[in-house]
Amino acid sequence: MNAPADTDLDADGRVSQQLVDAYRQDGFVRVRGVLDQGEIERFRAAAEDYLETHRAESLETGATFSQLVNVWRRDPTLRDLTLDRRLGRIAERLAGFPLRLWHDQMLVKEPHSDTATEFHQDRPYWPHAGDRLPLSAWIALVDVPPERGCMTFLPGTQHRTGLRSQDLHDAEDLFAADPSLRWAPRVTLPLRAGDCTFHSGYTGHMALPNRTGTARLAHVTIYIDADTAYSGAAHPVTDGLGLTPGSRLDGEDFPRPWA
Ligand code: SIN
Ligand code: NI
Repeated sequence: MNAPADTDLDADGRVSQQLVDAYRQDGFVRVRGVLDQGEIERFRAAAEDYLETHRAESLETGATFSQLVNVWRRDPTLRDLTLDRRLGRIAERLAGFPLRLWHDQMLVKEPHSDTATEFHQDRPYWPHAGDRLPLSAWIALVDVPPERGCMTFLPGTQHRTGLRSQDLHDAEDLFAADPSLRWAPRVTLPLRAGDCTFHSGYTGHMALPNRTGTARLAHVTIYIDADTAYSGAAHPVTDGLGLTPGSRLDGEDFPRPWA
């Protein structure tokens, strides 16, 4: 990857200590310019093709978004993005400990879809145990202003562990689970194509509807503590792998190529 001009990365592809501190304080951070123009075009074209062929396989069947999981296993171009060593190393620097891939997902809000992804935390959905704070890189493959469905975060909520999982179709559900969050500050982060946000698995977040005529294409790579164990709960990524509860999520299904 070659860094473009408008980037938060230094010549070695690293983020500043200031951004690391911001992530640790807020539970999210925007990193501009993680992809250069050539990469944006290559990955966007691959994502559009993949969506065309696989849209019907979306895990989410409502209007919120199309959700295509583990595209890295099936598309050699998008595999390069998911397993990108520079992104993986940035994620490890933000986290402060070794990470492995949990899964990736293409999250597409179709043009004029008009449905928000409502406030939720990610980690309560996952069958994980014994882990430190996971985090997701949400990479914009098109410009994502608020009207195309960028994300809004609740700073500091990465410390709010222990909540039940929340319904991302219900605008009230996170606040029903924890009424103290209802009046928390909200930060909305527009992204240019090639920018990304990192957010922790407990940081409350939502995404606005896509009211534009252009699909909102986001590629999300989710990183977990390299020592994460399988809890035994059901999940589409682990169902059928024959895992024993308590065993570590590792091996070729959960790689760490940036190590
Ligand atoms: C979205 O992109 O619509 C939601 C992303 C997320 O919940 O992590
Ligand atoms: Ni989420």
